Amino acid sequence: MNTGRRAQAKPAGRARERSPLTLAVDIGGTGIKAEKLDPSGRPVTQRAKIPTPAKATPKKVLSVIGKLARELGDFDRVSVGFPGVVKDGVIYTAANLGDGWRNFPLEAELKKRLERPVRVANDADVQGLGCVNGSGVELVITLGTGFGSVIFVDGRPIHLELGHHPFHKGKTYEDELGVRALKKKGRKKWNKLLGEALDELVRTFNFDRMYIGGGNAKAITLKLPSNVRIVSNEQGLLGGIKLWKDAAE
Ligand code: BGC
Repeated sequence: MNTGRRAQAKPAGRARERSPLTLAVDIGGTGIKAEKLDPSGRPVTQRAKIPTPAKATPKKVLSVIGKLARELGDFDRVSVGFPGVVKDGVIYTAANLGDGWRNFPLEAELKKRLERPVRVANDADVQGLGCVNGSGVELVITLGTGFGSVIFVDGRPIHLELGHHPFHKGKTYEDELGVRALKKKGRKKWNKLLGEALDELVRTFNFDRMYIGGGNAKAITLKLPSNVRIVSNEQGLLGGIKLWKDAAE
């Protein structure tokens, strides 16, 4: 069966890997990705990916994460980026997944299943942790299946749900800039709308720097202002290490 997996764990033995090893998981609307990171956030395996199951319920997603964890081998702790509102490891919304997520204690359930400490945060927040430089006002948006957002003030994140905020002709940022809009409107129109969204975000947040991540950032053809830059999707996973910055190593 083709699971869409891209990678196997490196044969390098556990002994040569520095602990603690973090299994970083990014749950997206189209794919669930994972890799193992060393204590400095460097990947020690390639990225493995399994397509997100249709109507992705908690049960289906837990089973995919279980598979990815087995495939990547031993690890000491787990970081998860989730595409919805997360508070204290509990899920509140999941606009682009299936039913059953409201009040689902994802962190606790994964801890039981993987028998390791787990931290779950919003996917855009994790991406942001991986790319901001920690000074001033930094806005991060992600363009993928959904539209993710978070603002950092001197490195402290405040999660935003701009994706579901009205933007244009009664439609939300996610309606106009999510993957469905890109497919339906085409690149040119989508880039035009992105330009309008950027103007709106500049006026609203007066950020010092802005970062754009997510799988569809590669569809950007628009010339970006000098304080706005595209960051790699990879940072969505690398930010996972930062969820543990208060933990003893
Ligand atoms: C969700 C956000 C998430 C974003 C990107 C939106 O639909 O509401 O919480 O960060 O998609 O996955």
